[in-house]
Parts: sequence; C-alpha cells; structure tokens
Amino acid sequence: MSAPAAIYLDHAATAPLAPGVGSAMWRVLDGADANPSSAHAPGRAAAAAIDAAAEALAALIGAPPEALVWTSGATESINLALKGAVGFAGGGHVVSVVTEHHATLDTLDVLERGGTRVTRLGVDGEGRIDLEALDAAIADEATLVSVMHVNNETGVIQDIPAIGALCAARGVPLHVDAAQSLGRERIDVAAMNIALLSMSAHKIGGPKGIGALYVRRRPRLGLAAQIHGGGQQGGLRSGTLAGHQIAGFGAAADHARAVREAEQPRLAALRDRLAQRLSAIDGVTRNGSGAHVAAPFLNVSVAGVHGDALLTGLTEGVPALAVASGAACSAAKGQSSYVLRAMGRSPREAGASVRFSLGAATDVAAVDAAAARFAEEVARLRALASAA
Ligand SMILES: Cc1ncc(COP(=O)(O)O)c(C=O)c1O
Repeated sequence: MSAPAAIYLDHAATAPLAPGVGSAMWRVLDGADANPSSAHAPGRAAAAAIDAAAEALAALIGAPPEALVWTSGATESINLALKGAVGFAGGGHVVSVVTEHHATLDTLDVLERGGTRVTRLGVDGEGRIDLEALDAAIADEATLVSVMHVNNETGVIQDIPAIGALCAARGVPLHVDAAQSLGRERIDVAAMNIALLSMSAHKIGGPKGIGALYVRRRPRLGLAAQIHGGGQQGGLRSGTLAGHQIAGFGAAADHARAVREAEQPRLAALRDRLAQRLSAIDGVTRNGSGAHVAAPFLNVSVAGVHGDALLTGLTEGVPALAVASGAACSAAKGQSSYVLRAMGRSPREAGASVRFSLGAATDVAAVDAAAARFAEEVARLRALASAA
C-alpha cells in the first residue's frame, strides 16, 4: 500500500529530486559508466562527466572546480574537514558553536577525547553567536574555526562574511557547514574567506549519499586524509568515484543556480504567510525571526500542548503534514531540541516545537492548508488536555 499523500514541509531533512537530476544520473548508469580513473576512452568520458558536475557545483560557491573533494555527504565532509585539519596541524584549538549539527558536535567530541582543545561558543536568543566572543576565542591560538551557515532546526543564518573576516584577520582557517545553505543562500568562498565548505546533494534536490568538501587551494590548506586506499582525489579521499551520484549532484547544482534568485523571495513570502497564520494562534511563538532566518524555514513553539502528541497529530492527521520537531536525528533520540535550549527556550518550549521547511513544490494552497490543520490540531489537543 502506498503512503497517503502528505503536505511535504520537511525540505531541511531532504528535498525531492530536482528536475533533470534523475535523467542526468540515468544517462551515466545507462552509458558505458567506466571507472573515471581509467586511461581508456570510456574512462575519460566518465571523468569528463565528473568534471562537468564539478564545474556546476563550483559555480554555485564561487570556487575553482579542482578545489572540490567528492564525499558521501555533509557528514563525511565535516569529518574530513575537522579531523583532517586537526590531523595535519598535529592537534590544536578548534572554535565552534553549541548549536552545530551533530556531524560537527560529535566529531569535536572525538577530537577532544584525543587531546584537541575545543571551545564551543553559545548563542543569543536569536540563535546568533557573539562576534567579540568569537574573536577572543580565535585569538587564543585557534587552529580552526567551524561555524554552520544556516541552522538545520531554526534556519538561523550566522554572519559568515563577518566571521570569515575575523578569521582572515587572524590567519585562522574557517570551515563552514553549508548543508542547509547551499543553493538557498548566496555563497562565495573567496569573498567570505571560507577555507573549507561542507556540502550535501540531497538537501538541494540531488541524490542521497553524495557530498563534497571545498578545500582552499591558495594559500594551500593542509588536510590529513581520513579514507586511505587507491589515492583518488589527490589522495585526500580514496575510493572509486560514483559517477551517477556526482552527475546528479551537478544537475541539482545547475538547477539551484538557475532558480535561486527567484525561489528565495517566493519561499520567504510563503514562509511569512505561514508565520502570520500560525502566530494568530494563542500561545504560538516563533524561534528565530526576521532577516536572520533563511527563507524556507519556520520554527515555532506551542504552549499548552505536549510536543510528541502535537507531532503525531500533525504527521498522522488528515491532511498529514510532513513536518519535523527539531532535527530528524535528535527527534529519533527522543530529546528536546538542544538548539532551542541554547537559545534560552525552556525544556517545555523546546519540546513542543515544530519545524516547517518549504521547497520547490510548496505553494499558497499548501501553506494555507498546513496552517489550518495546525490550528485545528492545537485546538484539539488543548481541548483534550482541559477535559482530562
Ligand atoms: C546542517 C547540517 N549539517 C550536516 C548534515 C549531514 O548531512 P548528510 O545527510 O549529507 O550527511 C545535515 C543533514 O541533516 C545538516 O542539516
């Protein structure tokens, strides 16, 4: 039995395939699909397809294509960036933020257990870091700074141009987790002084299981490889390249570049419409607001309802809403959001929160239907609670 249709508002978890992605992947799979490291003509054709995808992705971030390392996703990119930079430097001091994705936080824990010093900066009520505190931490012999661009739970945007300028002034490389900003926010690695940038295809309508790490070439940034073997990708990440996955990522990058300028204001307007309708409900407050939240994101806390009951009611009601409470991975662990708690929300507020993340298929009808269903569910749960 196929799953009933849901109003899909969970693009931060993963986005449906963008136009042209499936066919780009199939063209590779259905062709000779030789090993791109092979010297013969089919091998060279496979390598050329990978080069074309690298051009497309590089154009999205203002980088030279040869500065990209293909990985299995943002998680692996982040591991390579952090462990690779620390490994090359032989230890040191990494400065990061408490609201990072677990791919960063857990990697930092591993590095710390191995003797690396780690500073985790807090955030204010809007989810942003204090630049003076960051600068003080960098001045304390930092070897690497790692800050996410757009938060995956709230959509809060960190001021990467300002952070990059601080890092450049002190000569410390900056790693940015761009899993949620790629193709959505403008990224220019040179102008923003970004030395390492982690990316993932499936957040922009590409396939799952493929990502990339941008590694600055000039001045050259040293990284210790984390996966060893055949020496592909200059020895930085061994393993035969998955041409079909990479072609899919390239097609998604091309599509994102073509539509970004028009999509960003369209999604912001839809998000604002949703926010307006939800804030008319008594006891609904927004987590992260205004210009510092990326266009597709809306995160709200709801007073007077149980978070699990709300999520179940929304995801299993009719029409079903495909929404999330915090990050899918934290939700799986049954914990209230550490991101919202770091922003000063009470455990209760953090527990009864819902993330809406909009995307290509979202329209006015979807937003209005979602708002109406949300209002109905909150009223139903409150009536049940007061009757109990
Ligand atoms: C901010 C952020 N970083 C990293 C990741 C991990 O990405 P991937 O699924 O490509 O490993 C995600 C995905 O949830 C994310 O949202």
